Amino acid sequence: MGQYPPAEHVIVHLSDTHLLAEGRPLYGVVPVEQRLAQALERIERSGVRPHAVVFTGDLADLGEPDAYRRLRAAVEPVIARLDAQLIWVMGNHDERGPYSSLLFDEPASEHPQDRVYDVAGLRIISLDSTVPGYHHGDITLEQHAWLRHELSTPAPRGTLLALHHPPVPTPLEVMAVLELHNQPALAEVLAGSDVRAILAGHLHYSTHSTFAGIPVHVAAATCYTLDLGADAGRLLSGVDGGQSFDLVHLYENVVVSSTVPLGSFPEATGFSADYRPMIEQMPAPTRLEQLSSKGSPLTLSEASSSGASLT
Ligand SMILES: [Fe+2]
Ligand SMILES: [Fe+2]
Repeated sequence: MGQYPPAEHVIVHLSDTHLLAEGRPLYGVVPVEQRLAQALERIERSGVRPHAVVFTGDLADLGEPDAYRRLRAAVEPVIARLDAQLIWVMGNHDERGPYSSLLFDEPASEHPQDRVYDVAGLRIISLDSTVPGYHHGDITLEQHAWLRHELSTPAPRGTLLALHHPPVPTPLEVMAVLELHNQPALAEVLAGSDVRAILAGHLHYSTHSTFAGIPVHVAAATCYTLDLGADAGRLLSGVDGGQSFDLVHLYENVVVSSTVPLGSFPEATGFSADYRPMIEQMPAPTRLEQLSSKGSPLTLSEASSSGASLT
């Protein structure tokens, strides 16, 4: 109804599920499976039909085999109903052995878990930024060479690069210790490529920046949130609240990432779906008058409270 045609690709971006074996709560208090289920239920109920669902790492908090099995059991039926492609990314809490064998049904591997997906002409690269035995991130020279080679052929609709450690600064100093190392080398590989946006996680809060001129979208965690507004004197504060996931819409020339908060909130205003056909049928000038004019009898609040008609 505006200047842009509908998005060509829709991607759901979730991060940092941090599941534990036997469904144990994280730190004994965060029901991480429930939090993930809430996110998946929200996605399904919203009616969004994503081309792909991307999880940017820290899938299992301790890399336990049972955590990966439980993750698959929770996620795969939803993915099947959405008819979407499922894209996993390694995080520092994951372990390559169970990650490769239990999520991909491949022989267990300790090599970097880099994979490439064709999502209706959009290339999504899952890049393993983990360093075995550590929580900070890095990308090896071999991976850089592989990525350079992969990007040497542009994809029809461009590329999304998904990796766990975001190549952006963080004001949380403790998290800065766990950042992605050797970022200039990655910038060099991405320079002049068809990478349209970088999706990442790791920070447990939603943040957006640029890297080498490319937009970077960091999804918050589904498990717990690092609170940037915590009281002074707290070096780090993770809270069981404020969880979210992102919807990434790719238009012809622009990528938009939007955050969906998790939780149940009372609706304050809105239109029911019944209004859609009426709005669609209106000639553009009528639509503008009905929805934009301050003189129009219809406002969002009136529509929801009094059932006002658009006709
Ligand atoms: Fe995490
Ligand atoms: Fe992480």
